[in-house]
Amino acid sequence: MNDSATGFGEILVSSRSLDEYRAMFALTDADLRRRILDCPGGAAGFTAEVCDLGGDVTACDIAYFDDGVARVAATAVAEADRGNRYVRDHADAYRWSFFADPDAHLRARRGSAQRFAAHTALAPDRYVAARLPALPFADNSFDLVLSSHLLFSYPDDLDYDFHRRALTELARVATTEFRVFPLVAIGSPTRYPRLDDLIAELSAAGVESAIVDVDYEFQAGANQMLVCTVR
Ligand SMILES: C[S@@+](CC[C@H](N)C(=O)[O-])C[C@H]1O[C@@H](n2cnc3c(N)ncnc32)[C@H](O)[C@@H]1O
Repeated sequence: MNDSATGFGEILVSSRSLDEYRAMFALTDADLRRRILDCPGGAAGFTAEVCDLGGDVTACDIAYFDDGVARVAATAVAEADRGNRYVRDHADAYRWSFFADPDAHLRARRGSAQRFAAHTALAPDRYVAARLPALPFADNSFDLVLSSHLLFSYPDDLDYDFHRRALTELARVATTEFRVFPLVAIGSPTRYPRLDDLIAELSAAGVESAIVDVDYEFQAGANQMLVCTVR
């Protein structure tokens, strides 16, 4: 999967929905009333959907640089189609319960991409260009930070030091908590090999982590999140 806009050849700009975020991160209605950062936001419909419910979400992503939000919006459905082709070609690597079949996956991801695109035009300030491991936000800007399908997902592109610095940065901008999903690489059911080292480094910096099972497994083996509590 190539995406030249990201600068990382293998990273898709994907578009998960609020329903997927709820499941991946075990989000409660109370969570959705907190100030939330979605990092990376990609072309997810999450920010649009929560804001439509009266919530307060900011999305940030490297793909939003250089007027990239408009570019991401324009290509979001095509990216959803491209992601769906990958899923169809590797259907055995997925569990078909959250989505009944590849057609349901395509419908959901396309719908989410369309909500993202519409919302970027209505509320452009909700979409901020940012490149981990440095974010353009003050300390303690968000009550809850969510990070899906970047950290741990691409260990061949993003090294250990990137992960350490990125997690430290998520802690800096969170008042109390951040969550990361999943803990396995794309295409692999095996947990990120140096997760324990990262957890130890976070603990030394005052951030306590817990590995939590979630009631969501689309990619086989991707059914846990890291919940980090900032002291
Ligand atoms: C697979 S998408 C996930 C998007 C969204 N969280 C979702 O689940 O649908 C990964 C995103 O990470 C973004 N990305 C890659 N490297 C980044 C970096 N260093 N800082 C911020 N975003 C980055 C890509 O542009 C892409 O949109």
